[in-house]
Amino acid sequence: MSTDRRWSAVDAYFSGALLAPDAALEAALANNSAAGMPAHDVSPLQGQFLALLTRAVGARRVLEIGTLGGYSTIGFARSVGPEGRVITLEIDPHRAAVARSNLRRAGVADRVEILIGAAAQSLAALAKQATEPFDVIFIDADKPGNPAYLEWALRLSRPGTLIIADNVVRDGAVADAGSKDPNVVGIRSFIELLAREPRVQATALQTVGVKGYDGFAIALVRSIA
Ligand code: SAH
Ligand code: DHB
Ligand code: MG
Repeated sequence: MSTDRRWSAVDAYFSGALLAPDAALEAALANNSAAGMPAHDVSPLQGQFLALLTRAVGARRVLEIGTLGGYSTIGFARSVGPEGRVITLEIDPHRAAVARSNLRRAGVADRVEILIGAAAQSLAALAKQATEPFDVIFIDADKPGNPAYLEWALRLSRPGTLIIADNVVRDGAVADAGSKDPNVVGIRSFIELLAREPRVQATALQTVGVKGYDGFAIALVRSIA
């Protein structure tokens, strides 16, 4: 991971200035680390960004692909409010258990359902149940899965749904058309699908900060025809 001292300094400045101390989020990170989980959560400022977007669109139903310890999940759950619902997908039962306890600690466990198993399977099950469409869908699991996750996300969307994908820059590696890295190949296929997809209007933004150099893709579903 490439880092620059300025990126961390600016993240520290913005998070110190704009984010209130948050015991539940801090406890979640401590629990994740004690459980030996990788620090692949979004950063505090990125989590706030996702939570703000979710509130801005008035989301009541959020689908998250990739739970880890539920750090991003807590922000989504707060944003949908007590009557809202977050469904989050995690392949690793141990991580799901840690997430469950972090969500309980944050007081939002009642509005979050963790589906344990391979996301492709859980997504197929959700589509089969013909559940209500989601308002926000956050794709943040295994990157080779992204093209398939986009197809499922579109099936679970309505016009106006926001689909957001994390880690689309990967330290700049995404620009390498010849990359053999399966993560990069997955992200590039995902971006090419978005580019060809008439049902969405999409963009991607590079980010720097305490999590290094990465970025988000954001797609607005225009129609589901
Ligand atoms: N959204 C979290 C971070 C998720 S990290 C946050 O920002 O706080 C990615 C997670 O996806 C990991 O916990 C990993 O176990 C999970 N994952 C990887 N492959 C998966 C798959 N095929 N199905 C479901 N989850 C998967
Ligand atoms: C990785 C995955 C993530 O979702 C993330 O935010 C950072 C890193 C990874 O698999 O390396
Ligand atoms: Mg991520």
